[in-house]
Amino acid sequence: MDQAGRKSNGPDLTKGVALSDIADGAMMLGHVRDEPVLLARRGDELFAIGAACTHAGGPLDEGLLVDDTVRCPWHHACYSLRTGAVLRAPAMDGVPRWCVEQRDGRAVVCEKLEPAGAAPPSVTGQHPAAIVIVGGGAAGNAAAETLRSEGYAGRITLLSADASLPCDRPSLSKGYLAGTSPEKSVSLRSPEFYRERDIDVRLDARVGSIDSAGRYVQLEDGTRHSYDALLLATGAEPVPLAVPGADLPHVHYLRTFADSRALVARALVSKRAVVIGASFIGLEVAASLRARFVEVDVVAPGNVPWRRSWVPKWGPAFAGCTSSTACGSTWARAPSRSTSTRSRWRMASDSRPTSWSSASGCGPPPGWPNGPASTSTTAWW
Ligand SMILES: Cc1cc2nc3c(=O)[nH]c(=O)nc-3n(C[C@H](O)[C@H](O)[C@H](O)COP(=O)(O)OP(=O)(O)OC[C@H]3O[C@@H](n4cnc5c(N)ncnc54)[C@H](O)[C@@H]3O)c2cc1C
Ligand code: FES
Repeated sequence: MDQAGRKSNGPDLTKGVALSDIADGAMMLGHVRDEPVLLARRGDELFAIGAACTHAGGPLDEGLLVDDTVRCPWHHACYSLRTGAVLRAPAMDGVPRWCVEQRDGRAVVCEKLEPAGAAPPSVTGQHPAAIVIVGGGAAGNAAAETLRSEGYAGRITLLSADASLPCDRPSLSKGYLAGTSPEKSVSLRSPEFYRERDIDVRLDARVGSIDSAGRYVQLEDGTRHSYDALLLATGAEPVPLAVPGADLPHVHYLRTFADSRALVARALVSKRAVVIGASFIGLEVAASLRARFVEVDVVAPGNVPWRRSWVPKWGPAFAGCTSSTACGSTWARAPSRSTSTRSRWRMASDSRPTSWSSASGCGPPPGWPNGPASTSTTAWW
C-alpha cells in the first residue's frame, strides 16, 4: 500500500503499455519493481516520474497536468515531468525519474535516470556578502535552501524565534498531534543539512530591532547580526484570546513544534479539551485529539464550522464528516461579545447533529475557560 493508501500500483511499466491507452495530456499510475511510477503523455513526448509526492506521499497521478509539470492534488506541490525536480512548495525534494521509450506502439519505461543535477550557479557579478533571514518557518527555510542551490556562496544566517528547527507546521495539528507521525518527521531538515550547506541557524533568536542605516539586526538579548541583504519571513501569529482566563496554564495556542508537544503531553493526561476555532486547524486539532480519545468541544463564531472557508451551506455537511476521528466532538458557537447570539451544536458519536439550541439556552461549553484542570484548551487564529 502506498502512502496515499492505495493497494495497487497499476501495471508493470517495464513491460510497456499500449500508446493508445494513454491519451495526450493523460496520466497513468504504474510501477517499476516496487516503486509507484507516474507515466504521462504530452503530444509525442512521454515522461515517467515517481508517483508519490515527497511532501506527504500525495498521489501525483491524481493531480493536475499543466504543460510539462504535475501538481500534487493534496497541497499543490509542483514537479517537472522532465526532470522530477520540485518546482513549488510545500514539497522540498524532487521525485525520481525514468527514461521512456516507444517500441512497437508501446510506451516502455526503462532504467532509472540520475537525479537532475543541481541548477548551475546562477549568481554572477556582485552579490551581498552576508544575508540575514529573519524567520525559521517554511519560507525562511526555503529561501536559505534556494540561495545555496542557486549558487549563492556568501554568509547565510537564519534567525528564528522558535525553539526548534524549521518544521512542517501542517503536521503539528494533524499527524504529529494525532500520534501517527513520528517526531523526527516534523523537522523540515536535519541539523546536518544546514551544517553541510553552511547555513547558520540560530534558534530562540528573536529580532527586536533593525538598524537599516547600520545594516544590522539586534536580537532581544542584545546580540547583533550584520547583513548586506535582509529577508523578513516572519509569518503569522495566532490571534490571542482576549477573555478572562486566557492566560491560565492549561490554555494553549498552536503554532510551534513546542506548542504541539505541549498539547500532546496534555492530551495524554486529559479527558476533555475545548478547541476554539472551527476552520481547518481547529477541526484538525479536534480530530487529532479524538484520535487520542480526548473528548472535544469546538467553539467558534457562526452557526457552522468552516464558516469563512466554505460555502455556508457546506458547513453542516462537513461537520458530520470532517474525519471519522472527529466523531464525538461537540460544536458550539463561541460566546461572542454579544452573549445573546450564543448557540451550541452538539455532535454525537454517530456524527449527526442530535440537538441544537441557541440564544440564552447555552453558555460556554463545560470547562471553558475556567473548567476542570484537565481541560486542554487550544486557541488559534
Ligand atoms: C498548526 C498549523 C497547521 C497548518 N496546516 C496547514 C495546512 O495543512 N496547509 C497549509 O497550506 N498551511 C497550513 N498551515 C499554515 C502554514 O504552516 C503557514 O502558511 C506557513 O507556516 C507559513 O510559513 P512562513 O515561513 O511564512 O511563516 P511561519 O511558519 O509562521 O514562520 C515564521 C517564522 O518567523 C519567526 N519569527 C517571527 N518573528 C520573529 C522575530 N522577531 N525574530 C525572529 N524570528 C521571528 C518565527 O519564530 C517562525 O520561525 C498550518 C499552520 C499551523 C500553525
Ligand atoms: S502531499 Fe503533495 S503537496 Fe503535500
